Amino acid sequence: MKSLKLILLIIVALAAVVMTTTASSRLFEQEKTKQTDPLDWGSNHVGKPTPDFYGGDECLFCHRFTVGQVWQKDAHFRSIRGKYVGGKDAPEIEFLKSDNNGSRGASKVEFIMGKKEVSRFLRRNVDGDFELLSFGILKPGSDKARYFDLRWSHGFAGGTFDAACIGCHMTGVDSKTKTPFEPFVGCESCHGPHNPEHTKGKDVYLRFSKKGKDPAQMIASSCGSCHLRGGESRSTGLPYPDNFVSGDNLFKDFKFDFTQSDDPKLNPIDAHIQKNIRDIVIKGNNDVSCLSCHRIHPSDTLRHRRQLKTDYCMICHEVEPFKQIKKFEVHSQTCEY
Ligand code: HEC
Ligand code: HEC
Ligand code: HEC
Ligand code: HEC
Ligand code: HEC
Ligand code: HEC
Repeated sequence: MKSLKLILLIIVALAAVVMTTTASSRLFEQEKTKQTDPLDWGSNHVGKPTPDFYGGDECLFCHRFTVGQVWQKDAHFRSIRGKYVGGKDAPEIEFLKSDNNGSRGASKVEFIMGKKEVSRFLRRNVDGDFELLSFGILKPGSDKARYFDLRWSHGFAGGTFDAACIGCHMTGVDSKTKTPFEPFVGCESCHGPHNPEHTKGKDVYLRFSKKGKDPAQMIASSCGSCHLRGGESRSTGLPYPDNFVSGDNLFKDFKFDFTQSDDPKLNPIDAHIQKNIRDIVIKGNNDVSCLSCHRIHPSDTLRHRRQLKTDYCMICHEVEPFKQIKKFEVHSQTCEY
């Protein structure tokens, strides 16, 4: 009996050893494969024609009772807007008019861009191209609002907006002619081009549909196509991707140096975006994406409070007391503020 017990004990012990070694080697394998190749999946639309887009008004005809209720207030839609509010000049235009230098450009402005950190101004020239005014307002709408002039042109400049801005601020930009399909960030810049089959709710989904279950890699590419500020297109050398279509792998065309993301001087807004995307595309950590924390319709970050507490949270929160948010300012060389 005793020897039988002993044999059993040895078997159990051996099994335990075998199990732990395979478990730890599995763990080791995981560590090894964790470093993923960002170019491993998907394709892009470089050199291809821009897809056939449908237009937000058409989408909203069917989605008017859900997204339609909040879209007028969406920061993506509002980022570039007309200069009138309720038939009168918007407050930003009134502010320009009240400044000696600003008043020179005010009457020619057609569109206003941005509202939180900075507002800039655009008009269309005879060819329909967008021209950017060299002046703007810092902290518009606050009591610290201040006029500034970048002084490279003393007025409207053609070409600058096309070469430096258009790809991230408008929808479906043709990379050769630099003309947009829509002059703001529209539905299809996130959801991809319309496909009438999507209304059936089976087999064909637009990007970011509940049933489509987009992987973190795709989310990082799609949101990152505009929110990764400071990269460069391999094919055009411009600071925005070339003919990016939601669902593409951004990194086939877009170069981004993620070592800058650890710079302690980087503001928490750009830092949390860059680190999240780096964790997904390079470290292969797919647990947390933009949508773990952000909702788009309506735009809020309530979800983020329910996430597990990790170092990542400390980009914005103090270690102790956690509820305290670090003080920060957002500046961006890419967006000239
Ligand atoms: C790589 C994409 C990209 C490029 C290129 C780019 N922007 Fe932006 N821009 C963004 C994103 C994303 C935001 C929103 C940032 C946020 O909300 O934190 C933004 C925000 C802004 C804002 C609004 C700030 C506010 O506080 O409301 C202005 C104005 C702006 N950009 C102007 C420009 C101008 C002018 C250029 C060209 C000289 C430019 N951007 C180029 C992506 C880009
Ligand atoms: C900035 C990216 C972005 C833009 C622009 C955008 N969406 Fe969405 N949309 C999303 C994401 C992400 C979701 C997934 C649900 C969520 O987490 O908010 C979503 C969800 C939806 C849904 C399903 C859920 C719901 O709230 O009904 C519909 C329908 C929808 N979007 C339609 C639209 C339409 C129509 C437009 C344009 C008027 C639009 N979206 C513009 C990102 C975007
Ligand atoms: C003819 C009406 C119609 C048009 C036009 C339309 N949709 Fe839809 N859409 C639907 C219907 C119906 C569904 C629901 C399918 C299902 O059961 O999942 C849907 C589903 C969606 C979903 C997924 C909803 C979810 O629950 O996750 C998204 C996102 C979406 N549409 C976005 C868009 C966008 C963006 C456009 C414009 C490019 C658009 N739709 C145009 C009717 C329409
Ligand atoms: C085509 C470019 C583009 C894409 C794609 C895009 N964004 Fe944006 N996003 C912008 C711009 C431009 C702004 C607004 C700048 C401003 O303040 O005027 C913005 C603003 C925001 C804001 C601030 C909202 C607010 O209420 O102030 C959040 C959050 C955001 N985006 C998240 C996302 C997420 C998440 C995705 C992916 C689902 C995404 N964006 C996709 C360009 C884009
Ligand atoms: C762990 C949660 C979390 C993740 C993941 C996350 N965010 Fe955020 N993000 C936040 C919170 C919370 C804020 C609000 C900060 C504030 O109000 O000052 C924020 C702010 C922002 C802003 C500025 C909004 C504004 O009002 O100016 C943008 C733009 C943004 N996030 C985009 C993204 C994008 C794109 C991704 C994915 C690459 C992402 N975020 C991933 C939690 C998150
Ligand atoms: C981009 C900046 C940012 C990041 C990253 C961030 N937070 Fe926050 N957090 C905020 C801001 C701003 C608030 C206050 C407004 C709000 O609730 O959105 C906040 C509020 C909160 C609250 C509510 C606190 C209260 O007053 O009751 C909780 C809980 C929270 N965050 C948890 C987290 C966790 C967990 C993480 C990491 C997964 C995280 N946050 C990452 C900016 C951030």
